[in-house]
Amino acid sequence: MSDVLLAVDDLRTYFATEEGVVRAVDGVSFTINRGERRGVVGESGSGKSVTAMSIMGLIEPPAGQIVTGAIDFDGLNLLELPEDEMRKVRGGRIAMIFQDPMTSLNPVYTIGQQLIETIVLHQNVSKSAAREIAAQSLADVQIPYPASRLDDFPHQFSGGMRQRVMIAMGLSCNPELLIADEPTTALDVTTQAQILDLMLALADDRGTSVLLITHDLGVVAGFCDTVQVMYAGGIVESGSASDIFYDPKHPYSWGLLGSMTRLDAAQMHRLNSVRGAPPSVINLPEGCRFRPRCDFALDVCRERLPLLGPSDVEGHTVACHRAAELDLKLVTSEGAPR
Ligand SMILES: Nc1ncnc2c1ncn2[C@@H]1O[C@H](COP(=O)(O)OP(=O)(O)O)[C@@H](O)[C@H]1O
Ligand SMILES: [Mg+2]
Repeated sequence: MSDVLLAVDDLRTYFATEEGVVRAVDGVSFTINRGERRGVVGESGSGKSVTAMSIMGLIEPPAGQIVTGAIDFDGLNLLELPEDEMRKVRGGRIAMIFQDPMTSLNPVYTIGQQLIETIVLHQNVSKSAAREIAAQSLADVQIPYPASRLDDFPHQFSGGMRQRVMIAMGLSCNPELLIADEPTTALDVTTQAQILDLMLALADDRGTSVLLITHDLGVVAGFCDTVQVMYAGGIVESGSASDIFYDPKHPYSWGLLGSMTRLDAAQMHRLNSVRGAPPSVINLPEGCRFRPRCDFALDVCRERLPLLGPSDVEGHTVACHRAAELDLKLVTSEGAPR
């Protein structure tokens, strides 16, 4: 059995709009191993959600098209899978949790009805057995009085509790991969941390791989093994979480790190941040897409799009013409190293 659970290769997902073709995801490749927790970070609009939706088979034609690429999930070619088989994968072997639980929960059905429906759909069990599994899954996400809360409607739960329900729903079928797209962005910081802790502990118990999407590098810091940084539809840097946090090689990652709230902020001035705004993914700049915002850009950065390639650290890849010569360290109170 291969260690690689998911392999995404040169994925390009475009949308036809009145303004032109939106190249939302434009040449993204990465893998997720069994049990790996991978973080995806990047500013809003960088293609994080469209990457997830492409994996889930939720890109809606004709406007949305996966124009090229391959998505291999445990030997299954997801892009070629008939819809009825894809339906079994979605919510069964791959579960997804969205930012706003109210968009995924139906307000007119009880939590129990919705959980039981998912369980019956994906597991070969009777309704009464499904109800027991449903109650257990609410207990797993630490919802008090789980059996009786099954009969409550979504509006009877707080925002944090609803997100716990979504996690219960996502994990109730023991997926091999859990995709969580900004699962806690709508919640306050304390609840956010509790819910992430809980979600990742449950995933750990089950050996579930996790793809955690967030615009906040701070969120992945404590939770992910590996991180990929996305910018304007592409991955600009990828590596172990500690490589990215302590030895960022792309000026964009370095800027994101500088703008994040760090626990060890006492030793750091937050001097660097990313100036300007991301480009339109309809009219992408020539060459490096980050070039207009980059303090280190040279002529070559205008001429050629840098490809994601190896760095001097194994497993740490970067898409920057200047990565090898720049020494991007976070600015410390002892002064700037540059
Ligand atoms: N259905 C759609 N139609 C047109 N453009 C879309 C659609 N979905 C996403 N986009 C565009 O694709 C780009 C990437 O979006 P998305 O993946 O949602 O970004 P994020 O990184 O914030 O999750 C954005 O420019 C967004 O406006
Ligand atoms: Mg998104």
